[in-house]
Amino acid sequence: MNLRFSFIFLWAILTVGCSENAVTENPEDPEPYTALRSVAPFPVGVAIQSSRLGSGPHSGVVRTVFNSVTAEYEMKMKHLTSASGSYVWTHADQLVAFANEHDMQVHGHALVWHQSTPSWLENFSGTDMEFEDAVKDYITTVVQRYQDDVVSWDVINEAFEDGSGELRNSVFRRRMGPDFIARLFQYTREADPDVLLFYNDYGTIWDTAKLESMLAMVDDLQARGIPIDGVGLQMHITYTHPPLSNIVAVMDAVVQRGLKIHISEMDVRVNPQGDLSVLTDERSQLQKKRVNEIVAAFMDLPEENQFAITWWGLRDPESWLIDFWGNPEWGLLFDAEYQPKPAYEGFLEALRGN
Ligand code: XIL
Repeated sequence: MNLRFSFIFLWAILTVGCSENAVTENPEDPEPYTALRSVAPFPVGVAIQSSRLGSGPHSGVVRTVFNSVTAEYEMKMKHLTSASGSYVWTHADQLVAFANEHDMQVHGHALVWHQSTPSWLENFSGTDMEFEDAVKDYITTVVQRYQDDVVSWDVINEAFEDGSGELRNSVFRRRMGPDFIARLFQYTREADPDVLLFYNDYGTIWDTAKLESMLAMVDDLQARGIPIDGVGLQMHITYTHPPLSNIVAVMDAVVQRGLKIHISEMDVRVNPQGDLSVLTDERSQLQKKRVNEIVAAFMDLPEENQFAITWWGLRDPESWLIDFWGNPEWGLLFDAEYQPKPAYEGFLEALRGN
């Protein structure tokens, strides 16, 4: 750790989260700030990677500011099993141990995702029944291993197509048939009677067909008594789209169904048109406003429907957005120097009712 990071890390540990109104006596110090976990009435989470943990500033900020973590990729199927199908626990175990050590809850992401299907399963050579047994066995093994550590799982991630809302033509859909989602939920519930079961997707806040398919699926599961506890609304949004009214309408529809809402995978792109090469103060303030309005809307939900808000990464340069969209991007709460951005203040202000 270089001197600068040592200083920032020490400062973070000493000031963040110690008290709501922490002040610094040394005017040379950066402004101290309040930890979200010390103010929020619901868990505030962040996606992490095991390689960034350890004693550096990254883990220092994560554990002082947040009280929930999600593996950014290390609890997905492709990473929990090897090419031949044997289990690889090392990284997931490290994340869980970190969370336990720092009194953070773990949201599991994700048992089944068409983009993280390992080749041993994608090219499974047995019968459909054997395929389903293998999926069930996977779910049971993973869920029971982390039964004491993981409070909630995304049972299935992104099952519906963009635009049409049709079920994706995944190997799970092909091998298990159109009712496969119900059975995934049942298998997860059988593995752990207490863990919270979520359906997680993007686009439900701007794609009407996808939203309708998701709500129809929820209605169908509920009508048949198949357990589902909540919905993850992946909050990959921009500073302008989709409008807040869309997001509120979707949250209301989920509340009407008595489910918990996870604002999952939050990031707020400020450079969707690629017109910026540095983050401007103006765009940063618009990002702050956006974060503020979304957190405020979440605060307005009945308490029993507020599951958590999870950020998809800690610092801007670590975000998946940069590779995914190919533009410079500053979508998260912390800048490259581990400093909270105006968006962080926007989050705090909403928590405080401002
Ligand atoms: C992304 C991670 O951020 C990347 O590190 C990984 O390589 C690919 O997956 N929707 C999801 C997340 O549900 O799992 C994705 O995470 C981002 C989109």
